[in-house]
Amino acid sequence: MSLTAKVYIVGAGPGDPELITLKGKRIIEQADLILYTDSLVNEKLLAQVKDGAIIQKSAGMDLQTIVATMVKAVREGKSVARVHTGDPAVYGAIFEQIAMLQEQGIEVEIVPGVSSVFAAAAVVGAELTIPDLTQTVILTRVEGRTPVPDREQLRKLASHHCTIALFLSATLTKRITSELMEAGWSAETPVVIVYKATWPEQKIVRTTVGKLDEAMRQTGIRSQAMILAGWALDPFLYQRKEVHRSKLYDKTFTHGFRQGRDSR
Ligand SMILES: C[S@@+](CC[C@H](N)C(=O)[O-])C[C@H]1O[C@@H](n2cnc3c(N)ncnc32)[C@H](O)[C@@H]1O
Repeated sequence: MSLTAKVYIVGAGPGDPELITLKGKRIIEQADLILYTDSLVNEKLLAQVKDGAIIQKSAGMDLQTIVATMVKAVREGKSVARVHTGDPAVYGAIFEQIAMLQEQGIEVEIVPGVSSVFAAAAVVGAELTIPDLTQTVILTRVEGRTPVPDREQLRKLASHHCTIALFLSATLTKRITSELMEAGWSAETPVVIVYKATWPEQKIVRTTVGKLDEAMRQTGIRSQAMILAGWALDPFLYQRKEVHRSKLYDKTFTHGFRQGRDSR
């Protein structure tokens, strides 16, 4: 299927160039203009583009210039792949781009990607929702220079004692610890820091709420890190065979697609 003259916002995935959707890959290969965000978009994804395609990095461009570049290309009948790291719907800053493109009558299609939160869970071998432990994951960030609404401050979200995934918060670890502890989390609660998940330089650091800041200082990680916190990240969870088994595959549990053995 060939592309039309519009903007395709494509999720590039977390880094590993095989972690992009087939659709996202095809759009990059066929687009006339490829405009990609930052250092977390793997340039290997741009190895196969069509002859004459223009590739531009948007880091360093302001929003007006980014949008004007895309509008000009579409008005010239070109297709644009606007490539964002991970999944564009999470901290992708796509809202303002879409609003300005719509104002100019430019059609936009979004192609999802693998967010770093799920890539990080995969590389640490974790399920973020463990039966009887937590059935909720909160994706958030800690307030730094960019404000977070008061009702979404970490200490308030953490009152749910569920799994929490923190984006954009690598330099704010003291604050993470104090807010989680204010919410009643124990200092022993497991935390995993994943730096550049799925990249060759990936680092995985297992620590606890109480030791998070020290771990961060020791490893020197200051950015490009996903912080996963909560008991679902307990490295010993797999050894506790008697607990936390999902009902979905329990032989006595009946659901829409399977009759439980004991209920036949
Ligand atoms: C601007 S946000 C973009 C998030 C992206 N849309 C996603 O779904 O992963 C950038 C932040 O995402 C996280 N991040 C993105 N890619 C990552 C990766 N490969 N490993 C760890 N964290 C990553 C980091 O917290 C980083 O500061």
